[in-house]
Amino acid sequence: MHVLVLGGTTEARRLAGLLVAALPEGSRVTSSLAGRVAGPRLPPGEVRIGGFGGAGGLAAWLRTHRVDALIDATHPFAGTISFHAAAGAAAAHVPLLALRRPGWVPGPGDDWHPVVSLEEAAAVLPALGRRVFLTTGRLGLGAFAGLDGLWFLARSVDAPEPPYPARMETLPARGPFTLDGERELIRRHRVDVLVTKDSGGAATAPKLAAAREARIPVVVVRRPPVPEGVAVAGKPEEAVSLLRELLGHAR
Ligand SMILES: NC(=O)c1ccc[n+]([C@@H]2O[C@H](COP(=O)([O-])OP(=O)(O)OC[C@H]3O[C@@H](n4cnc5c(N)ncnc54)[C@H](OP(=O)(O)O)[C@@H]3O)[C@@H](O)[C@H]2O)c1
Repeated sequence: MHVLVLGGTTEARRLAGLLVAALPEGSRVTSSLAGRVAGPRLPPGEVRIGGFGGAGGLAAWLRTHRVDALIDATHPFAGTISFHAAAGAAAAHVPLLALRRPGWVPGPGDDWHPVVSLEEAAAVLPALGRRVFLTTGRLGLGAFAGLDGLWFLARSVDAPEPPYPARMETLPARGPFTLDGERELIRRHRVDVLVTKDSGGAATAPKLAAAREARIPVVVVRRPPVPEGVAVAGKPEEAVSLLRELLGHAR
């Protein structure tokens, strides 16, 4: 049995660990990373790093390495690889399931402004605040580059590269983050608006509670859709059960 996990998330690492423990002796669990982050945290099992060369390249990899099941456990905002996974798995006749942590839900006291893209986030920002805590990652900051009247605190694992806003301070950091830490950042930098993707999960959720407490608005970028027809698990444990079901049906 050989399972390929498309990873790059905390959940994907946990899933790889569960699979290594749960699959029969002699099975292989390979995690695939895009190679975007310098010094990534490595999951248990085997690891390969780098793109496949599109859906066709992924299909070829699945065949060459005799993969029995593919699990797309990539980040909810990694939209391209998820569509390649669907097309590649179909072409190679390999069962596919997705692991997606549930999105965040606003609660009482939240002032959320949902948008569909970083460009739309940039368009609504000037009406909401002047000192922006930008937590959407190092890629795509060019969308905010024209907003010269605003100041940005941009937090990301690796340092961003231009284009990015003229008035921007960078904050290299990798979650999990704490409520105390997020409160302190908002206070110290006099942040008056937060921008986030709807990534879901507990590791980066404290910024939302801190924004609620500080009564500042939050611009929330919605997720791209999961490809149609793909079975979705919300947690690594569910993904293991779903995999058993899928393989039961596939054999
Ligand atoms: N987007 C985010 O906000 C975010 C946040 C945290 C972590 N991540 C992780 O970072 C990785 C890249 O994210 P992205 O938004 O750049 O993805 P993306 O736009 O969906 O994918 C772009 C290309 O990167 C390659 N790729 C992506 N994930 C891969 C994987 N797990 N293994 C091998 N190749 C992969 C594929 O190249 P080929 O076409 O050549 O195969 C894909 O076409 C993902 O694995 C994701 O889980 C993303």
